[in-house]
Amino acid sequence: MRFDICTLFPDMFTSYFSDSILKRAKDEGLIEIRIHNIRDYSKDKHKKVDDTPYGGGAGMLMTAQPLYDCLMAVKKINSGPVVFMTPQGKKLTHTHAKRLAMNNESLILLCGRYEGIDQRIRDLLVDKEISIGNYVLTGGELATMVVVDAVSRFIPGVLGDEASAEEDSFSRRLGGKKEYPHYTKPAIFEGLEVPAVLRSGNHAEIAKWRKEHLR
Ligand code: ADE
Repeated sequence: MRFDICTLFPDMFTSYFSDSILKRAKDEGLIEIRIHNIRDYSKDKHKKVDDTPYGGGAGMLMTAQPLYDCLMAVKKINSGPVVFMTPQGKKLTHTHAKRLAMNNESLILLCGRYEGIDQRIRDLLVDKEISIGNYVLTGGELATMVVVDAVSRFIPGVLGDEASAEEDSFSRRLGGKKEYPHYTKPAIFEGLEVPAVLRSGNHAEIAKWRKEHLR
């Protein structure tokens, strides 16, 4: 699956996407991530990308021209939907992330900054709007990383163990519930003992215990 990310802060993504599971997924060609700097598309001689809102009010807005040119260029190389990250969008859930992974070969993710973007970009080019929760971040970059991470986990092969995403919290197999508690060695830590059933080797009893301890 391919992700094209449009942002004013490309460097923010380097570290997160260069480690651990997402790095391996990229190296194995399971996901492809390309970052596009919106500022590179500004036709202003000072590469300005923001301006004051019509009607007044606090803060600045991202202007339409650099966003339009950036998205139009990216749409030539990515035929997927344009997703704008905003607290006004549809709340991201397990099901939503899974659907994005199953239904799309690729996504274009647009990160807002300042007080937001010129509405005409939403009217002309945005297909979906996603929020990661009812709080306001300083920009859409962190939210985009959350979407790429949550969606990538559903792409076959990204998690070492194929079954993992289907047995995670919120999955259908767990009836939408949150996972049971996990323990690893040692058997006793700070006086707290691992439940005996988990050390019994009795798989039926272990499965029963886990089912009873879904949250
Ligand atoms: N940009 C700022 N806040 C956000 C949020 N909660 N979700 C998605 N994008 C955002």
